[in-house]
Amino acid sequence: MIIGGPSSQLLAGRVAAVLGEELALCEYRTFPDGESYTQVVASLEERVIIIQSTPTDQDLVYLLQLLDICQESSIDLVVPYFGYARQDKIFKPGEPMTARAVATALNPFLRRGKVHLVNIHAPSILSHFSCPADNLDATPLLADKVASLGLKDLVVISPDKGAVAMARTAASALGADCDYLQKTRLSGTEVSMAPKEIDLRNRDVVIFDDMIATGGTMATAIEMLRAQGAARVYLAAVHPVLTGSAVLKLYRSGVEGILATDTLDRGVSTVSVAPIIAKALLKG
Ligand code: R5P
Repeated sequence: MIIGGPSSQLLAGRVAAVLGEELALCEYRTFPDGESYTQVVASLEERVIIIQSTPTDQDLVYLLQLLDICQESSIDLVVPYFGYARQDKIFKPGEPMTARAVATALNPFLRRGKVHLVNIHAPSILSHFSCPADNLDATPLLADKVASLGLKDLVVISPDKGAVAMARTAASALGADCDYLQKTRLSGTEVSMAPKEIDLRNRDVVIFDDMIATGGTMATAIEMLRAQGAARVYLAAVHPVLTGSAVLKLYRSGVEGILATDTLDRGVSTVSVAPIIAKALLKG
C-alpha cells in the first residue's frame, strides 16, 4: 500500500502506477489555528510505503502524522526532497544540526523500516538514521532528458565543487566536456562566481546542481556563462525548490530552459523519479 503525503501526491501516484500497488486515500487539512490534520482512509497493511517530501515545516508535521498513523506497520519511508539537508553541520556555535534533528524525530517510527532519499545534499545525513537508508541518484534520468534536446558541442557545468560528481556522471552519460565554477556566497540570497578558464564560445551548456532554491546560484552562473559567449544555457536540477521569484530571476538571466524532477511538484518537473523509487522499493 502506498500512502502519498500532501507534497508528493503526483509522485506517489506515479510510483503506485509503476508498481501496480494500491494508493491509499488520505485527507489533509489545516485547522483554523494553523495546526495540521491528517487521516488515512484505508485499512493499513503489514507493510506500507509513505512518500512525502518536506519542503516546509508543515510538510514535516504531516509526515510525522503519517508515521504515527502507520506505526504498527513496517514502513518504507521515501522522502524525495528532504528539507533542512543544507543544515547538515553546526556552522556557528549555538546552532542546531537540523538535518540530524529531523532524522532523530523520524527514527522511532522506523524500527522495522527503511528510508529512501534522492540526491541528498549531504550524504552524511544518511548516518543519522538508525534504520537502513539509501540515496537514490536521479542524475541519469536528467541526463536522458538533456540528451533528447539535441544540444550542440555540449559542456556540462557544475556551479560549485559540491555538484562536480553529479556533473561528471551527467557528462559521461552525454559524452560531453565537464567543468565547475568557483562560487562565493555573499548572503542568503546572493552569490558571486569566479570565471573558470573554459572556452564556452558558441557551445551549448547545461548546468547541473542538486537543487535550485532562490535561483541566485544559477542566475549568476547563467549570466557569467552567457558573458563568456556560451550559446544556449539550460539548467538541470533534481530538486526544484524555486522559492519566491526564482523562475523570473532565471529567465531574466537568459536561461533557455529548466529541467527538473518531480521530487517537488512544480511546473518544471518534467522528469519523474518514480522509476528509481519503484526499483529501490522492489529491492527492499
Ligand atoms: C548549494 O550548495 C546547493 O547545491 C545549491 O547550489 C544551492 O542550495 C542553491 O541555492 P540558491 O538557488 O538559493 O542559490
